[in-house]
Amino acid sequence: MITADRLKTVQEYYFSKKLREVRGLIAEGKPIINMGIGSPDLAPSKEVINVVQEALSHNNAHQYQSYQGLPELREAIAAFYKEKFDVDANPLNEILPLMGSKEGIMHISMAFLNPGDEVLIPNPGYPTYTSVTKLVGGEPKYYDLEAKNGWFPNFNELQKQDLSKVKLMWTSYPHMPTGATVTKEQLRELVGFATKNNILLINDNPYSFVLSNNPISILSIEGAKKTALELNSLSKTFNMAGWRVGMVLGSEEHINAILKVKSNMDSGMFYGIQKGAIAALQSGKDWFDALDELYSSRRELMFQLADKLNCTYDKNAVGMFVWAKLPSDITSAEQFVDGILYDKNVFIAPGTIFGSNGEGYIRFSLCVTEDKIKEAINRFE
Ligand SMILES: Cc1ncc(COP(=O)(O)O)c(C=O)c1O
Repeated sequence: MITADRLKTVQEYYFSKKLREVRGLIAEGKPIINMGIGSPDLAPSKEVINVVQEALSHNNAHQYQSYQGLPELREAIAAFYKEKFDVDANPLNEILPLMGSKEGIMHISMAFLNPGDEVLIPNPGYPTYTSVTKLVGGEPKYYDLEAKNGWFPNFNELQKQDLSKVKLMWTSYPHMPTGATVTKEQLRELVGFATKNNILLINDNPYSFVLSNNPISILSIEGAKKTALELNSLSKTFNMAGWRVGMVLGSEEHINAILKVKSNMDSGMFYGIQKGAIAALQSGKDWFDALDELYSSRRELMFQLADKLNCTYDKNAVGMFVWAKLPSDITSAEQFVDGILYDKNVFIAPGTIFGSNGEGYIRFSLCVTEDKIKEAINRFE
């Protein structure tokens, strides 16, 4: 059977292909240390696991669930956003639980893009923004993020371009892959740019609680809801990546458009997962402190590994990765990474998978135990 034309616009996801190669090496007996992907290696809290186990015996646990999620899940998301970001969102109509923020990228794109519409996508940025844009017939229009500008867009440059066909703009602060953060003033600039150019701005915010002592939401900017949506996720904050729980917040009008897509594509999330998500969202300070402690010590070690490779990095960056600049004599990040994979059995992500501005950079994931990081350091002695 000939596949649909849209499949010609995308390739298999880099990690899907590369991890197959990595698994092949492991099957050959190679002692691979995988520092490629940001999949938290620890479990959610005991309370969360208990709640989920207990939920299995509830009366309606195994039935179809509401497309909009349990009202108490939406209320828990609203309370979380109020407490952590000082954002008011109405649980009745301004919050939609998702099966991970990744699916939200597809739903939002299906809800707002017609073929030929343009989408502003950060370079470097999360590759899914590009592939989903292409799958729905939109046109990616990349905007440069560069170290010299703190990985923040240059609006003077952007404003000189023809933006008349641009409908959506993706941002993700704290930024993946660089770990760059923004101030409230910078978020205000982003909202101002989107409002002026009649663009729907989406801030994809799954790293707000990883090594970030100042979580910030685009929706905390006055007037943002008219022009912006925010995606968030329990994957990284609560070690629940495999559970697939995320959320989108925004105006009733925007959320309704997304719900129209989502309710035609899937049914509500499994009841037990929703109950577990509620418990996670209600976690106390201890949870966040422990998360910080864990990733801080891993990051210190990862800096040592980056030093061994003669890389430079920003110690103030946040999130689940160390984004490191390769020495200037290395011209291909992918070749460099493959060399290390085959010589030292350590897998690190090349910056180029996030766009051309990622050339000359590599990304270390902090989802690796301290022992493994130490072992990797030893392999470079
Ligand atoms: C920037 C960014 N957005 C979204 C996601 C997807 O997260 P989720 O597990 O919530 O689908 C990731 C995951 O790595 C990410 O890095």
